[in-house]
Amino acid sequence: MAERWPLVGNLPAYMRDPIGFLCATRDRYGDVARVTLGPLEAVLVSHPSLVEEILVTHNRRWKKDQFLQTLRPVLGDGLLSSEGDFWRRQRRLAQPAFHRDRIASYADIMVDYALALAARWRDGETRDVHRDMMHLTLDIVAKTLFGADVGEHADDVGEALETVLNFTVDPTYLLLPFLRGLPTPAIRRFEAAVAKLDAVIYGVIERKRKNKSETESKDLLSMLLQAVDEDGSSMSDKQLRDECMTLFLAGHETTALALSWTWHLLTVNPEVDAELAKELSTVLGDRRPSLADVPKLKYTANVIAESLRVFPPAWSTGREACEDIELGGFHIPRGSQVWFCPWVIQRDPRFFEAPERFMPERWSGDLQKSLPRYAYFPFGGGPRLCIGQAFAQMEAVLLLATLAQGFRVEVLHPPIPDPTVTLRPKKGLLSCVTRRAQQAG
Ligand code: HEM
Repeated sequence: MAERWPLVGNLPAYMRDPIGFLCATRDRYGDVARVTLGPLEAVLVSHPSLVEEILVTHNRRWKKDQFLQTLRPVLGDGLLSSEGDFWRRQRRLAQPAFHRDRIASYADIMVDYALALAARWRDGETRDVHRDMMHLTLDIVAKTLFGADVGEHADDVGEALETVLNFTVDPTYLLLPFLRGLPTPAIRRFEAAVAKLDAVIYGVIERKRKNKSETESKDLLSMLLQAVDEDGSSMSDKQLRDECMTLFLAGHETTALALSWTWHLLTVNPEVDAELAKELSTVLGDRRPSLADVPKLKYTANVIAESLRVFPPAWSTGREACEDIELGGFHIPRGSQVWFCPWVIQRDPRFFEAPERFMPERWSGDLQKSLPRYAYFPFGGGPRLCIGQAFAQMEAVLLLATLAQGFRVEVLHPPIPDPTVTLRPKKGLLSCVTRRAQQAG
């Protein structure tokens, strides 16, 4: 393992290469290993059966880790950050809005936005395709979450979300509880961005509450407004605001990243890109993809599944022990921070053959069934499983199919993974987009 220093512990090694450090720690110290990052002590857990113990079997003994708790000033008590009975009630109310049948109605919206982006791409031009993916998934989440309402605010919302997201990876952010209200430029920008998002979200909620016909529309917010618990209670404006903010943040960057890493992987694996183009041509020809095509686009889905294995956007997950716990023969005292990383486990040669290779075909057989549970968990698991999983999978397949049908994307410089809250490509994804030649027949 990399070096350990007095006071700062493994921090220098972690700062230099977080993922390399965590993999080396697993290799050297095994499936339960202690890491010290300055003042923060954490336990790295790297075996699927232990992940299952945390996420499923004994999930009530754990809560979200300190890192996620720092997002509370932005997310409030939304689904990602809330706990206990409050979270259970919110999840019960929100769940129907994410049912497969419900989200099926969003397929056309997703394809419309992807076609609009493709119409802006010029053959042979160079552009930051990661930026394109961020705008695309933001437009989609805004439209499916709020209906048409956010259209007039789309640019403001995009800008405000970007400010918030960037600030949450800034070191100053960790000091926010002590610094709030202080007039530093970064904090002012952050607070103004949160206020802007609040104004838009509360405005939409108020309009929908007043206008009944809008409430009956099919967007997610309308469904959350109508959701009624067994005791007849529904969500307050503050709860709706927190859920909307959470869905805005959780629902667009992750999917954008899944697509961005896919463009990189297709660039360095041209044989996969060719196979993908073949499937798109066979299944779709020249017509636009639709919901009915999703089950037929098997190779496209495997490309996405494999991309989520090699570059999981939510590259690391954490929990805090609510009590003293025995895990894998080790004593984990109450209050300990525990991390388990899809990146580390999904590239473990004990579970995946040639784990560094991008091979969508590995998913075409019954790998899913033969894998130990939680050897592959890009969407987490147990009761806190990503509520947007089906939404994201459908979205990723439809967006990739629509864009790759018309264009080949060549990423010009190999992107450097930047593992912050999510796994971002450092400096974006400068790419050349080239129109695909029409397939014969
Ligand atoms: C490829 C895209 C996505 C990935 C990789 C992803 C990943 C994850 C993961 C790993 C978790 C669990 C976190 C934990 O256990 O601490 C999670 C939770 C969550 N995700 Fe996603 N997500 C994606 C897309 C989406 C979308 C599209 C939405 C909404 C439209 C969404 C909304 C949420 C919410 C609300 C939670 C919290 C659920 C709860 O605790 O009840 N995600 N996501």
